[in-house]
Amino acid sequence: MTIGIIGAMEEEVAILKEAMDVEKIVEHASMQFYKGVLCGEKVVVVRSGIGKVNAAVCAQALVDKFNIDILINTGIAGSLDAAIDIGDMVISTDLVEHDMDASIFGDPVGQIPRMDTFSFPADPELVKKAVQANTEANPDIKTFTGRIVSGDQFVSSSEVKERLVSLFDAKCTEMEGAAIAHVAYLNKIPCVIIRAISDKADNSATMDYPTFEKQAIKHSVKLVRNLLLLI
Ligand code: ADE
Repeated sequence: MTIGIIGAMEEEVAILKEAMDVEKIVEHASMQFYKGVLCGEKVVVVRSGIGKVNAAVCAQALVDKFNIDILINTGIAGSLDAAIDIGDMVISTDLVEHDMDASIFGDPVGQIPRMDTFSFPADPELVKKAVQANTEANPDIKTFTGRIVSGDQFVSSSEVKERLVSLFDAKCTEMEGAAIAHVAYLNKIPCVIIRAISDKADNSATMDYPTFEKQAIKHSVKLVRNLLLLI
């Protein structure tokens, strides 16, 4: 079994790359895929770059070129729920592309026209294991499960945040997860998206983000390493 692990930014995958035994590095679609072993599991770790298109290209390459059996995305996100604070962890139950809007034709915002699903589900077994992994690896922070929304937009205003809150009933927002879950859905591969909260996706987001980014990444990396031991 091979597990594909995607992080959008170098900071999100650097620690995983350092910790793994690298067998080879394969360049494809301007991305470097690190194939090897981490925590006893065969893995391919890769930085996708930011945004839904980079994430989708990367996820499909993991399927086509590396024959992965499980897809994990780790990173950071902005909270959309007052109960979820900076530093807390969100594990996806399902994902929606919040910037998909064909509502003029009667579809709800987020619905991809003519697709047979509104949201892309995470694998329930992986979600359960990720929750357990976080409870053990990061006992000092809270773990939440729920919907994650993604769009090609860093959300940093209360108005945009409120719109997302009212439309999607989601726990947090980021820029890749739904694209990765979309690719997993099309290829029938189990996936889970793991996000540590770095900001509140409001007017303070750009201020909080650099301060809490490092701590949030540390938590999600710890979770992923622990999750590999449970898979
Ligand atoms: N990643 C971390 N914080 C985010 C935000 N506020 N919007 C989009 N992506 C993010």
